[in-house]
Amino acid sequence: MKPYLTYYKKNKIIPVIKVNNKNTEILDKQRSNLFDQLKIDKRLFYNSEVLEVGPGTGYNANYLINCGVKKITLVDGNKSSIESIKKTLKKKKSTQYKILQNDFLDLRLKKKFDFVICENVISGVKNPEKFFRKLSSLVSDNGYLLINCSDNISLFSEKIRGVIAYLLIDVNKLNNSSFKIKTKFLSKIFASHLKSLGRNTRAIDDWVQDVLLYEYWWRKKSYFSLYSAINTVKDKFNFYSSSPFCFTSYSWYKNTKFSLNDHTLNEFFKIQQNFFDIRSKNMYFSKKENKNFNNLVNKACKCIYSLKYENLNNLLSILYKFKKFVSKYEKNNLTVNSLNQVIIILSDYKKRKKIDIRKVEKLKSWWGYATQYIVFKKK
Ligand SMILES: C[S@@+](CC[C@H](N)C(=O)[O-])C[C@H]1O[C@@H](n2cnc3c(N)ncnc32)[C@H](O)[C@@H]1O
Repeated sequence: MKPYLTYYKKNKIIPVIKVNNKNTEILDKQRSNLFDQLKIDKRLFYNSEVLEVGPGTGYNANYLINCGVKKITLVDGNKSSIESIKKTLKKKKSTQYKILQNDFLDLRLKKKFDFVICENVISGVKNPEKFFRKLSSLVSDNGYLLINCSDNISLFSEKIRGVIAYLLIDVNKLNNSSFKIKTKFLSKIFASHLKSLGRNTRAIDDWVQDVLLYEYWWRKKSYFSLYSAINTVKDKFNFYSSSPFCFTSYSWYKNTKFSLNDHTLNEFFKIQQNFFDIRSKNMYFSKKENKNFNNLVNKACKCIYSLKYENLNNLLSILYKFKKFVSKYEKNNLTVNSLNQVIIILSDYKKRKKIDIRKVEKLKSWWGYATQYIVFKKK
């Protein structure tokens, strides 16, 4: 079980969004929406120095170069990623970007940057706090730091899909098949799931490789949460914005003692459970309810971490309790029905070593918010 770089390099993949003629317009619109939601006026990028770590295929760099950055420095430790970035940026002036093929942790950079961006990377590295501290050390005064945070709640639906994929591979005797065959097999089954998101621009094969076949990822016991992020940098940075938005605040500007870091840390528990299922109607929890919700999810994730084919009982018994807990709060029953469907699928496997693909199909619209974009501003 190894983090991103080892997995991507071993399989020679960069399984994230690729830029092509069909999707450039959608990607640019999504980028534009993202920065609007994050309250970063795109004119701020004009003539700025940007560092992006783990740029994948370079679609964000492509957008930022169009916004007029002075220079964007792109650091990625994966050869397939570097090749893909070069392809994406082939029409751009070489003075506008610099590509470094390095493991970020081994790299020494002397200069500081107006923007440091690291999307969908930190939760997958070995020591997220250390990685994040190093990113934060490269932000210039008044600069911005943009990252993603995830937790067991926001990723739970994908972790469960990882479990089902693992069992499907067993049932269909594909354990010793090639990476390519497993990708093809799972892509067929889960294509409708990704399609149900509508707005997604990633190819199904890429998603299957990045999530379902990446066991290290879906088994992980914890990720890089909003709490960890704020606590790691709160002395030098202020929480600035997020997408989705993480709290409500009625603080008035006259209250000069107000701290967005503390406020966010103290408020997030009220809404965190809403990241479990994008279909849910907003629920506001007390601290105790949020604690109980987290306890059940974390217990289930502990079982997922050590799950074996012959050992589904613990996960099943927690899922029963969890379903009961959610049914007390949920009005439309959509999450409860999905949890029930998972219980049925796992029980079928346990009793008969069978999985009915039509039952897996019924889970297609259950998705969590997966990752939250967070921006910090240097104090
Ligand atoms: C999940 S992909 C995300 C790509 C892109 N940022 C996105 O959101 O689509 C993770 C990227 O980070 C790179 N990466 C992971 N760990 C790294 C490290 N320690 N140093 C440099 N790059 C790393 C991977 O090669 C890959 O390009």
